[in-house]
Amino acid sequence: MATFNEKKTCSQRMENFGRFVWNPDTGELMGRALDKWVYISLYYLAFYIVMIGLFALSIYSLMQTLSPYEPDYQDQIQSPGVTIRPNTYGEGGIEIFYNISDENSYKGIVKSLNTFLAVYNKSKQEEMNKPCSNYSDVKSLLTGSGRTKYACQFTTDMLGKCSCHHDPTFGFASGEPCLFIKINRIINFMPDNKTAPTLHCSSKDEDDLRHVEYFPHGSFGLQYFPYYGKKAQPNYTNPLVAVKLFNVQRNKEIEIVCKVNGSHIINENPHDPYEGKVTFKLKIEK
Ligand SMILES: *[C@@H]1O[C@H](CO)[C@@H](O)[C@H](O)[C@H]1NC(C)=O
Ligand SMILES: *[C@@H]1O[C@H](CO)[C@@H](O)[C@H](O)[C@H]1NC(C)=O
Ligand SMILES: *[C@@H]1O[C@H](CO)[C@@H](O)[C@H](O)[C@H]1NC(C)=O
Ligand SMILES: *[C@@H]1O[C@H](CO)[C@@H](O)[C@H](O)[C@H]1NC(C)=O
Ligand SMILES: *[C@@H]1O[C@H](CO)[C@@H](O)[C@H](O)[C@H]1NC(C)=O
Ligand SMILES: *[C@@H]1O[C@H](CO)[C@@H](O)[C@H](O)[C@H]1NC(C)=O
Repeated sequence: MATFNEKKTCSQRMENFGRFVWNPDTGELMGRALDKWVYISLYYLAFYIVMIGLFALSIYSLMQTLSPYEPDYQDQIQSPGVTIRPNTYGEGGIEIFYNISDENSYKGIVKSLNTFLAVYNKSKQEEMNKPCSNYSDVKSLLTGSGRTKYACQFTTDMLGKCSCHHDPTFGFASGEPCLFIKINRIINFMPDNKTAPTLHCSSKDEDDLRHVEYFPHGSFGLQYFPYYGKKAQPNYTNPLVAVKLFNVQRNKEIEIVCKVNGSHIINENPHDPYEGKVTFKLKIEK
């Protein structure tokens, strides 16, 4: 009896619902006449078109007030961060660990360095940027059309003993590895107009790292500053300082700090370990 009642209610419900969806007597779809549905659809269509139009207009007028050449809001931090290649991360930050006797332990590092340095290929740089080294008036050399600027070339042959022509493994095979340091771009950042920022690397214990050479000359040339931004200076490439480490204590984890020194560069910020300096661990096994 109960099942029969239930069945009846169910089929009645289905019928009612069917009638709601399409009522052949009144010609109503979901409780409304067809022409009403057309009006409602048109109303919402117009409503959304107006909404989208207002939204687009406000975005457009906002974009009009922004200069594509430089950011409107730059935060107060005006001192650049420092990064290093290779940048293999371990548990304790950047860890460059390898074994001279095991080529596989540094093959990946050498490959990543080649990829990183590809943009500094001489012929590529000659296509993209201007040779600045022999010009006293770099500013006018870099003046492009409109608000665009050219940038100065930085080529791998400036890297001396750390260029791949000198050593295709960048010193890793011989246990005197080269590391490449760059400082982050900050639009319109100018370190000083007389002295270029210099780089200095040292280990906690002097005996662990007895000799370091820097290329080119251990400084970030002033001709690469300021950086005018991606739109004004699309081909800009960061200058590098290559660091070649000699007489590194073997089979020992060594902490090395590379600090950039120059006016307007902060390198003692306890809250930001990468501001003005980079710290990493090196272990060369054999
Ligand atoms: C630059 O790249 C070209 C190929 O794109 C290569 O033939 C040439 O050897 C590279 N030059 C340097 C200096 O690496
Ligand atoms: C950027 O480099 C390309 C070649 O890669 C060159 O055609 C173009 O003129 C350069 N633009 C500027 C603004 O230096
Ligand atoms: C710059 O000048 C030096 C000599 O003053 C010369 O040896 C060198 O080839 C020049 N470099 C360029 C890129 O013109
Ligand atoms: C260096 O910059 C200061 C202001 O930023 C300026 O007064 C001075 O003339 C500049 N010196 C040189 C040599 O360009
Ligand atoms: C860093 O530069 C300041 C002056 O700008 C100088 O007094 C100081 O000796 C330099 N430190 C190093 C390690 O070169
Ligand atoms: C370095 O690699 C060689 C050859 O694979 C191995 O004999 C040596 O024990 C390794 N050194 C260390 C400290 O693991």
